[in-house]
Amino acid sequence: MTTTNAPAVIDRAAVVQQDLGSVLHPAVQHKLLEQQQLVIVSAKDSTLVDANGTEYLDGMAGLWCVNIGYGRTELADVAATQMQSLAYYPHTAMNVPAAALATKVNDLLGGDNHVYFVNSGSEANEAGFKFTRQYMKHEHPGEYRYKTIGRYLGYHGTTLSTLAAGGMGDRKMKFEPLGNNDFVHVAPPYCYRCPFGLTYPSCELACVKNIEATIQGEGPETVAAVIAEPVMSAIGVAVPPPEYLVEVEALCRKYGLLLHIDEVINGFGRTGKLFGFQHSGVQPDIVALAKGIVSAYLPIAATVVRNRVFESFYGDPAANRQVNQVNTYGGHPVAAAVALRNIEILLEEHLTERSAENGRYLLDGLNTLRQHACVGDVRGLGLLAAVELVLDRQSKAIMPGPQMQQLVDYCKAQGVIVGRSMGTRFNGNCITLAPPLVLTRAEIDRIVQVLDKGIAALTGNR
Ligand SMILES: Cc1ncc(COP(=O)(O)O)c(C=O)c1O
Repeated sequence: MTTTNAPAVIDRAAVVQQDLGSVLHPAVQHKLLEQQQLVIVSAKDSTLVDANGTEYLDGMAGLWCVNIGYGRTELADVAATQMQSLAYYPHTAMNVPAAALATKVNDLLGGDNHVYFVNSGSEANEAGFKFTRQYMKHEHPGEYRYKTIGRYLGYHGTTLSTLAAGGMGDRKMKFEPLGNNDFVHVAPPYCYRCPFGLTYPSCELACVKNIEATIQGEGPETVAAVIAEPVMSAIGVAVPPPEYLVEVEALCRKYGLLLHIDEVINGFGRTGKLFGFQHSGVQPDIVALAKGIVSAYLPIAATVVRNRVFESFYGDPAANRQVNQVNTYGGHPVAAAVALRNIEILLEEHLTERSAENGRYLLDGLNTLRQHACVGDVRGLGLLAAVELVLDRQSKAIMPGPQMQQLVDYCKAQGVIVGRSMGTRFNGNCITLAPPLVLTRAEIDRIVQVLDKGIAALTGNR
């Protein structure tokens, strides 16, 4: 039994009654919740405990976010101490923890940046879009540069603009029309299902050529930025060819666009480097950070701008160049103090290096699943991985939703929580894994074993 700080007595039935009576949940069908009630009461390292005392190994670190693992009670002490001195004041003034956190984040990103604090990954990207536009208005006053190029099957958040920037039809459809043509989409670097039917490296990165054709087609003087996750997560962990981002950066420089990198999932050790873009050595102009910045202990996120962008916002007050928005909780001192300690723990415990090493071990384990004919692809970088299931390797016909759900449910019944790709035309035929970076090798073995049995049960070992 994992030792956690579980509340002493929980009236599970009362919680379920309250919840079903009053909570509107995200993303899950309430009818399903009525049948599958999961009341999580405590957690430690990579293990969750529900109100029945059942333990689950969390292969998804919540929503790809609890990088340093659960149950770090010292973060509760940090929060309590900060709350006793200053619980809140708006970030139009300075505060001690936010200044320290910004310094740390800036240092980790190379020291040539300023950091703007928000509360979620969506807001971090949204602020990035707005900063891009404001920057273009300042720097190119005669031009009308406002479009951001995103990738089909990309995901950048829940707000209307971040949804528009993303390329997941299923996630957008119920809210459309999104009301603008500010976001233009290009083919993703999803090599297993190359949108051009090509194979790397003979493809010569047709997906990058597609970006240049799109910039030219739109009119370069209307395009402001390209947004990209270094490794596309929600699609089912698409790891691009190594030079992909380098070539995207070159296009940004050629056409005077800002490179907006979404590190919401990739960041803080997830891919085996501190930031995903560091695998290719590019220098982004805007970086969106969330999730791992605080391992989800409190809500805080950030939009980091390179100093050449920051300088555009700097000037005489009369010139009205400052960031033209304020958010109530931005730079929240308690969240900032907790985030700073979270990053220190990540660095002190070498969790990025551990992610790289154990990521290779996980990938080796997942690759053994290729013995099942229905495993079409296995891919990953660091502790971010996916197994793509197909009915047939030749046609790559997707494993249908009910079977995928059966596999996810099987793993859960065995005490292992795995994720599933979502919201795309290919609709959820990837098992995704993004465990806490403290995951042990024994836990990796367990995940692989459970998936192995689950896939065998699913297909009769086809
Ligand atoms: C790549 C990426 N960007 C942005 C977001 C949005 O972050 P949040 O849910 O904190 O708004 C997510 C959420 O999963 C994400 O995966």
